[in-house]
Amino acid sequence: MGIFVVLTMKASVIEVLLVLLVTGIHSNKEPAKKVKRPKFTVPQINCDVKAGKIINPEFLVKCPAGCQDPKYHVYGTGVYASYSSVCGAAVHSGVLDDSGGKILVRKVAGQSFYKGSYSNGVQSLSLPRWRESFVVSESKPQKGVTYPSTLTYSSPKTAAANAGETTKAYEKPSLPGTTAQPVTLSQALATPVAEATHRATSKPFAASVTSSSRPQPVGHRSQEMEEMATWKPEPVLLDSGFVPKEELSTQSSEPVLQGDPNCKIDLSFLIDGSTGIGKRRFQIQKQFLVDVVQALDIGPGGPLVGVVQYGDNPATQFNLKTHMNSQDLKTAIEKITQRGGLSNVGRAISFVTKNFFSKANGNRGGAPNVAVVLVDGGPTDKIEEVSRVARESGINVFFVTVEGAAEREKQHVVEPNFASKAVCRTNGFYSFNVQSWLSLHKTVQPLVKRVCDTDRLACSKTCLNSADIGFVIDGSSSVGTSNFRTVLQFVANLSKEFEISDTDTRIGAVQYTYEQRLEFGFDKYNSKADVLSAIRRVGYWSGGTSTGAAIQYALEQLFKKSKPNKRKVMILITDGRSYDDVRIPAMAAYQKGVITYAIGIAWAAQDELEVIATHPARDHSFFVDEFDNLYKFVPRIIRNICTEFNSQPRN
Ligand SMILES: *[C@@H]1O[C@H](CO)[C@@H](O)[C@H](O)[C@H]1NC(C)=O
Repeated sequence: MGIFVVLTMKASVIEVLLVLLVTGIHSNKEPAKKVKRPKFTVPQINCDVKAGKIINPEFLVKCPAGCQDPKYHVYGTGVYASYSSVCGAAVHSGVLDDSGGKILVRKVAGQSFYKGSYSNGVQSLSLPRWRESFVVSESKPQKGVTYPSTLTYSSPKTAAANAGETTKAYEKPSLPGTTAQPVTLSQALATPVAEATHRATSKPFAASVTSSSRPQPVGHRSQEMEEMATWKPEPVLLDSGFVPKEELSTQSSEPVLQGDPNCKIDLSFLIDGSTGIGKRRFQIQKQFLVDVVQALDIGPGGPLVGVVQYGDNPATQFNLKTHMNSQDLKTAIEKITQRGGLSNVGRAISFVTKNFFSKANGNRGGAPNVAVVLVDGGPTDKIEEVSRVARESGINVFFVTVEGAAEREKQHVVEPNFASKAVCRTNGFYSFNVQSWLSLHKTVQPLVKRVCDTDRLACSKTCLNSADIGFVIDGSSSVGTSNFRTVLQFVANLSKEFEISDTDTRIGAVQYTYEQRLEFGFDKYNSKADVLSAIRRVGYWSGGTSTGAAIQYALEQLFKKSKPNKRKVMILITDGRSYDDVRIPAMAAYQKGVITYAIGIAWAAQDELEVIATHPARDHSFFVDEFDNLYKFVPRIIRNICTEFNSQPRN
């Protein structure tokens, strides 16, 4: 009985299908009878249009040529913050090339973090939480989906209303809630993150969009060779993890967190609590701090401030995350009491370098580290060496010296010209010399302006200024004199891309055959010119190829002398298979935290390169068919070094 019913139903379904099929074939044979749909035109946008400006949840759009330009900022990889240029993101994700064309854009939920990367000639930036994202795919319209032929733009009113709202010094900072759609920190933290990636926020035609329409994740590994051939060397844009100022200052309709996004820094104030400063001046110093934090719009989306008081020993009054708005900070500063003792500034700088900028203390990693040292008179201990370590650790040290060293203190001052030994750069930008405590308040504005000028904070760590790079160069007989020159040129071209000094990136080199020799160590040269001329002077050795022993040698002779606050990068260049085992030395390099890039030319064995290279091998090993093509790999290697650095920002 039951079976019979089912069979009947099936028969009728088949019947219907047959009818459909027949009519389908029939209509296909007579295309003239088909009703023509009105012609759909894809709307066009400019390169600078951000996804957040367009309200439609899914749309086809036409991009012009030239959207690869770095001025059209893109945030994220694969999934982009809606604060990004739509067309720029399309180029970054590989859907579009620089000549423009049609793309399909789909909005998805906001994410807690967008990771910047270099892809298809576009450097995208990192961005913390944003309320909406989008993905881009090729313009293959889904059947049954109607795409808008005109786009709906969000009203620019909210942005205009907030445009004049930049916080001025001495003015109360703007409160959260004055902006269009603010998300407070507690809201942000309360929102689950995991579901964010591939879920559409609103999809009126969700039913007709099948899962197959999902854009594929970006990653054009197979196209790397082509990509490489068309890649033009251009300045490497650094992803320092914060939003460029010109972007956010003109666009305040989409703020996420409280705090001035134009000044995203992690700031440590080192205040003088020595007995010598006296009660009255200590009070003026506190007032100065209050004025500065009022002028800075403190918050998790902007600057964060902690205070360390120094005397005999330094002590953290509060760290970066103790008070996350200007008002709370003001109250906390007013409660600070003077500790007394000597004026051990050196000890305090060392303390800040080692302890203050830790993750546990609220250091965000993506924001530049700034230390402002207030000094009455002069320090009573040495500061030159500790300041060098601070610089190398990526801390932008500013000095505000007040009233110089008075006679009563001169006897204690250990180093004359101490400020110039301590600051990030001696170009005047990092030091303030204030004649009298009574005029200190005049320094509030200039100081705030400078610490917020994140583009000029030269000590912030970047992929180009914070590594010890050791080249391990194959000098075996198969290379030949002329090719060896090409290899050296390649080493020089790679080195040129870095900022070289004793406190920035340092370069070292080893040449190997059966044997190994140290051409020069990391501490030998401290300018780019000297490094380049040393590379030019390397003499071709000629002999066998013991790559394993060479790696071991480089670890012992080069990297053992690397500094703990430097990134260790080994770039090994070989033209053949090693006579000895590379596995164990490669493992030793990995265990010592050395990131290894393996570049093989001509007769080099790809499987061996992959063993030598740091995991994932596809990002760290390169094979070049002939020496004359080595030059093409310079930008790609730099790009990979920077991408790797940016994926683990350390400031
Ligand atoms: C090095 O750079 C010079 C100048 O840009 C270029 O002509 C040369 O081909 C490059 N060579 C290598 C091996 O990178």
